[in-house]
Amino acid sequence: MRMILIGPPGAGKGTQAPRIKEKYCVCHLATGDMLRAQVAKKTPLGKEAKKIMDQGGLVSDDIMINMIKNELDTNRECANGFILDGFPRTVAQAEGLDSMLEAESKPLKHAVELQIDDGLLVSRITGRLIHPASGRTYHKVFNPPKETMKDDVTGEPLIQRTDDNADTLKKRLGTYHAQTAPVVAYYKNKGIWSGVDASQDPEHVWKSILGIFGDSK
Ligand code: AP5
Ligand code: ZN
Repeated sequence: MRMILIGPPGAGKGTQAPRIKEKYCVCHLATGDMLRAQVAKKTPLGKEAKKIMDQGGLVSDDIMINMIKNELDTNRECANGFILDGFPRTVAQAEGLDSMLEAESKPLKHAVELQIDDGLLVSRITGRLIHPASGRTYHKVFNPPKETMKDDVTGEPLIQRTDDNADTLKKRLGTYHAQTAPVVAYYKNKGIWSGVDASQDPEHVWKSILGIFGDSK
């Protein structure tokens, strides 16, 4: 299985990707999580990325393409394939990914778009809680932790992302429509695009995704 999940902030990429990872034994590469790890470590890239992420913009294509290339080349979990969450986000990134995969004769099989109206995303984003160490995601209303503001597995505190507020969300959505929507057209042209109604509850979204894959490996 070699696939990407594409969709606006809060569409459910990070919620669905771990299920795909588990079912198909592939790696889950989430560029947002990778950048947040750099921010937490206060690396030069992390400091630069934090400013961009908090403004709802995009980190440069070169940096992101190299980050994914490095991970695909070295992460053993990716031997069976991968699910990319949050990448590619521009047509240049999609082209960069294609050249990497073509060089290995391992082309992308599925580009799954999580389709949802912008209006439904505000409550998802402003209610999201995360466990920074694992990336586990909760929602104050739709998927609350067992104990208030504590991770179900470790009991450690949950936090809100600094870009999860209504103002930054507006900018992130603007960036998505301007720069990432053309990536959807790119994959439609290639004939590997499928759309899923992401406004349903997570179980239904999961069933719709499985319906696309059929028996593909
Ligand atoms: P990133 O972390 O990728 O953020 P994003 O694309 O804005 O997506 P989100 O993580 O907000 O949403 P999601 O779809 O994963 O939703 P989730 O499943 O968590 O990127 C952050 C930033 O990093 C970018 O803005 C950019 O600056 C930078 N960046 C990253 N990649 C880059 C790249 N390739 N190039 C350049 N820059 C890059 O769900 C959200 C909430 O809703 C959760 O609380 C969840 O519990 C709930 N929920 C999920 N599904 C449902 C459902 N079906 N029903 C009800 N609630 C649901
Ligand atoms: Zn995410």
